[in-house]
Amino acid sequence: MKIAPSILSADFAALGDAIALVEAAGADQLHVDVMDGHFVPNLTIGPPVIEAIKKRTRLPLDVHLMIEEPERWIETYAEAGAGLITVHEEACVHLQRILAQIREAGARAGVALNPSTPPAVLDYVVDDLDLVLVMSVNPGFGGQKFIPATYDKLRRLRTLLGPRRVELSVDGGVNEHNAAELAAAGVDVLVAGSAIFGAADPSGAVRGLRSASEVATSS
Ligand code: DX5
Ligand code: ZN
Repeated sequence: MKIAPSILSADFAALGDAIALVEAAGADQLHVDVMDGHFVPNLTIGPPVIEAIKKRTRLPLDVHLMIEEPERWIETYAEAGAGLITVHEEACVHLQRILAQIREAGARAGVALNPSTPPAVLDYVVDDLDLVLVMSVNPGFGGQKFIPATYDKLRRLRTLLGPRRVELSVDGGVNEHNAAELAAAGVDVLVAGSAIFGAADPSGAVRGLRSASEVATSS
């Protein structure tokens, strides 16, 4: 299981320290939420901040673009240091083309699905994908409640992806209480914001998520 702390819930005024803490605690990658105030009703960070983060960490940057017309920005985010770029299916008119554009720019290609978007939208792009990010809340904010229908969707996606080397990631309301069930549903990457950076001990929270998820994988 990979653990991807989402810096959305970190203290933006002390971002370097927050990142160093989760890196030392064994996080596998850093989840960076980019919001444009249009696709989602919130604004966060953009390429200059990602470039600054890249200089401070060895962790791969998993950049989650919650923006309209993501095709205008792919190269910029790849150059800023994104190792994985995830676009929302709902924001892409020409999804297959954008996925090819991400790989062409030198990054791994991910697609995010909103809670109401069915897995079948990916039927004809499975070979163009490196990761599927299943939103278990409606995107835009940290600290929301996990939507239980996500479990069924994850299981369906695992079947749809078959033996391909496509990672399955889940984002929104992930915590130590649902990590085991998410692992059992076939998740490879747990994204967690408030459960890590909202905890009194973020390092302990990274380790706690990992051990909770390993209970399911080892049984
Ligand atoms: C929400 C973002 C998430 C967010 C998750 O739109 O995509 O990455 O940081 O936060 P939690 O883990 O608090 O639900
Ligand atoms: Zn996210």
